[in-house]
Amino acid sequence: MLTWKKNTPMHTPLVARCLRGLETVVAAEVLGSKLGAVTELRHREVHFRTRQSVPSLRTADDVFLLAAEGPDVGTTRHTLRDLVALAELTDTDRLLSVRRGARASARDITGVEVSASFLGRRTFTRYDVEDVVGQALARRLGLPYHARRKGTAPPPGCCGWRLTLDGTRATLMLRVDDRPLHRRPYKQHTIAGTLHPPLAAAMAELAGIRPGDRVLDPCCGAGTLLIEAALARPGARFHGFDLSPASVTAARANAGDLPVRVRRGDAGRLPLPDACVDRVLCNPPWGAQVQAQGLIAVDPARWWTELRRVLAVDGTAVLLLPDIEDLATALRHDFTPAHVQRLRLAGAQVFLVCLVPTPSASPARGRPCGASAPGPPEAIDPAGQASA
Ligand SMILES: C[S@@+](CC[C@H](N)C(=O)[O-])C[C@H]1O[C@@H](n2cnc3c(N)ncnc32)[C@H](O)[C@@H]1O
Repeated sequence: MLTWKKNTPMHTPLVARCLRGLETVVAAEVLGSKLGAVTELRHREVHFRTRQSVPSLRTADDVFLLAAEGPDVGTTRHTLRDLVALAELTDTDRLLSVRRGARASARDITGVEVSASFLGRRTFTRYDVEDVVGQALARRLGLPYHARRKGTAPPPGCCGWRLTLDGTRATLMLRVDDRPLHRRPYKQHTIAGTLHPPLAAAMAELAGIRPGDRVLDPCCGAGTLLIEAALARPGARFHGFDLSPASVTAARANAGDLPVRVRRGDAGRLPLPDACVDRVLCNPPWGAQVQAQGLIAVDPARWWTELRRVLAVDGTAVLLLPDIEDLATALRHDFTPAHVQRLRLAGAQVFLVCLVPTPSASPARGRPCGASAPGPPEAIDPAGQASA
């Protein structure tokens, strides 16, 4: 006998969905912003309650109103119909009114779309789950259902529902915003291997950027890390380099009026003085999608040597590394890991690491910014454009 739990009108619990591994970072954002109380951490979910208006979290992929919960329906197709009960339990009028009162646009809802996911092997697909729940919700709301299995984008005005099966529970949620939160309005220009903005926001958060800090991304791509950091900490100064002219163009366009300066340059020979950078944020081109170019393609150790050279003695580097072996390389270059976190990103394992210079091995201890410029200043003109 299935038992289902319905949310009462007095409390509308919220669910922030995030990358696997970022749950504690999202919980810290909820708590740090004094938005409310975290009630539970689950696989890729942070459950919380707030008395304030529904928050826009930077480290979460999305924020949902919790609609209804019940037991997981199991692994076989014939029990999928049990999910109809979740849709029937949902107080759709109240949830849609909370959603209207939050941030979603005031325009009329034109349809229903559902995105489903589950853990473990099943004899059905996510589209089968979406169709069962979507058709039930559409019937209740008297609206058309837009099936995602067609591969076409839902028409404007569709309200987005989310259904998860985690092996124990079935959870139905309603997206607060019209669009997923991870789709940032600033990101109009992109490049291969560009970073997921909530992960960039989490990395910026972990860096502990202070007012006045000089923040560097030596391989900045479309600028996601620097832009997320600048939005969160506008009192710091942000500098990006990239060897690819297309990346430089994309990062400048995305950054718009933010205090982010992007120049063309090789991360293997940065035109910066020793020890002048307080924080480094970077996902270097070590992955399958983006290959290292220039000096670091010939000698990857140069990337680490330059990072160590420009980072201040009390600095921190927050990096996304594809391989745990990269930590050994970091140790060889006189970095000490202060934090290591395993994440899953697009189905692959990656490591989020915070590195600090190993104290006894500082090569440029205390040298003030601007004291020397061992890189080739002639490679960068004063306007920040490549002269070669
Ligand atoms: C993984 S992407 C960075 C993505 C970036 N974080 C974003 O969100 O768009 C790596 C970047 O390193 C750049 N790159 C490759 N070799 C480089 C080098 N020697 N110096 C500087 N940038 C380099 C690539 O052009 C690419 O933009």
